[in-house]
Amino acid sequence: MQLSKKAGNITPSITLAITAKANELKSQGVDVVSFGAGEPDFNTPENIIQAAIKAMYDGKTKYTPAGGLLELKTTICSKFKKDNNLDYKPNQIIISTGAKQCLANVFMATLNPGDEVLIPVPYWVSYPELVKLADGVPVFVETLKENNYKYTVADLEKALTSKTKALLLNSPNNPTGTIYHEEELLEIASFAKEHDLLIISDEIYEKLIYDGEKHISIAALNEDAYERTIVINGVSKTYAMTGWRLGYAAASESITKLMTSIQSHMTSNVNTIAQYAAIEALNGPIEDLNNMIKEFENRRNFMIYKLEKLNEISIIKPNGAFYIMVNISSYLNTTFKDQTINNSVDFAKVLLEEEKVAVIPGAGFGLDDYIRLSYATSMDIIETGIDRISTFLSKIK
Ligand SMILES: Cc1ncc(COP(=O)(O)O)c(C=O)c1O
Repeated sequence: MQLSKKAGNITPSITLAITAKANELKSQGVDVVSFGAGEPDFNTPENIIQAAIKAMYDGKTKYTPAGGLLELKTTICSKFKKDNNLDYKPNQIIISTGAKQCLANVFMATLNPGDEVLIPVPYWVSYPELVKLADGVPVFVETLKENNYKYTVADLEKALTSKTKALLLNSPNNPTGTIYHEEELLEIASFAKEHDLLIISDEIYEKLIYDGEKHISIAALNEDAYERTIVINGVSKTYAMTGWRLGYAAASESITKLMTSIQSHMTSNVNTIAQYAAIEALNGPIEDLNNMIKEFENRRNFMIYKLEKLNEISIIKPNGAFYIMVNISSYLNTTFKDQTINNSVDFAKVLLEEEKVAVIPGAGFGLDDYIRLSYATSMDIIETGIDRISTFLSKIK
C-alpha cells in the first residue's frame, strides 16, 4: 500500500540515532556525559507549579476556547507591550502546544503548494520539515562564517525567487546563539517590504541572552514590519517549562483566525492547567529566571574557556540560548580504529563510542563541520565532558 508521500518525504531527526545510542549506554550503567540537552536542566519554578495545582483544585480542568484562555491572551498582550513595545489585542494571539505547534499553524495558515520559505543555515531542525508538511518548499539561505552565520540581505537575495512567500528569522538563534542587532533587523525588514514577504520571527530564546545584549523583536521596528510579522514565543525555555507544552504566536487578526481554525480541528486548546501555569509564569516573580540566566552565563563562559584551550578547534561565540557550535573541520577526513570520520555524524558516533560523550552533529542543522554542545548542564559535566573531548582529539590526530 502506498502510504502518505508527504510523510515519507519528512527527514527523521538526524540527532535521534546518537541520542538513542547514548540512552542505551546509560541504561547499561555506562557513565555517559551528554551535551545534547535542548532544554533547561532546572525544574519549573515553585510558584508556577503551585498555580497549576491550584488550577486543578479550583476545577479548571475543562476545555478552554481552542485558541486559549482570554486571561492568558491578555497576559501575553501585556508581556509583548512590556518586553517588546508591541501592541496586540487578544484576537491577535493564539496559544498552542509549544512554539512548535505555533510554527506548524503559521505554515499551514499562510502557504499554498509550492510557496517558498527562506530558512537560514544553520537552522533549527524542525523548520524545513514543518514547511514541507504544509506543502511549502524550504529554501536554504547560505550564511557566512565571517558574519557569525547570520544572514544579510545579500544572502537573502541569492535565495529569493518569484515563489518566495516568507522568511524565517530566529534570534537568539538555535544552534549558534547569535543575536541580530537593530541595524541588521532594519535591513531584513525593508527587504521583506520590498518583496512583500511575511516574516516569521521565532523569539523563543528571547530572555536567554548574555553580555548585556538586548533582544529586539523585528515586529517592533515599524508599522510595516509589524503588519507582516508573525512573532513566535513560548514559556518552554524561559521558565524551564518544556514539558508543559505551551507556546504562543502574535500576528494580524486574519492570520490568527486561520491558525485558530486549524488548531481547533487538530488539537483544540493547550492543556488547561498549563495555561493557568503560564499566566503565573508571565505575571509572577522573576528571581528564578534571573538566577537561571546568571547560571547559564557562567556555564557559557566556563565552556568557552575550556573549548578555547583545545587544539585546532574554533567556536561560534554565542550571546544567547544555551548552545555552542564547535568547528571540528580539522578533525574530519581522519580515521580512528578503522572507522572513518568524514563528517559530524561520524565524529559524534566515534566520540560517543570511544569517550562516552554525546554531542549533536552539526549536519542536523545544515553545518556538517560543526558539533553542537549544550551548556544546559552542570559545571562538573562541562569540565569532565570537555576533558574527554580533548583526550579524543589527541587520539584521532
Ligand atoms: C528555535 C526553536 N524554536 C522552537 C522550539 C520549540 O519550542 P517548544 O518547546 O515551545 O515547542 C525550539 C525547541 O527546541 C527551538 O529551539
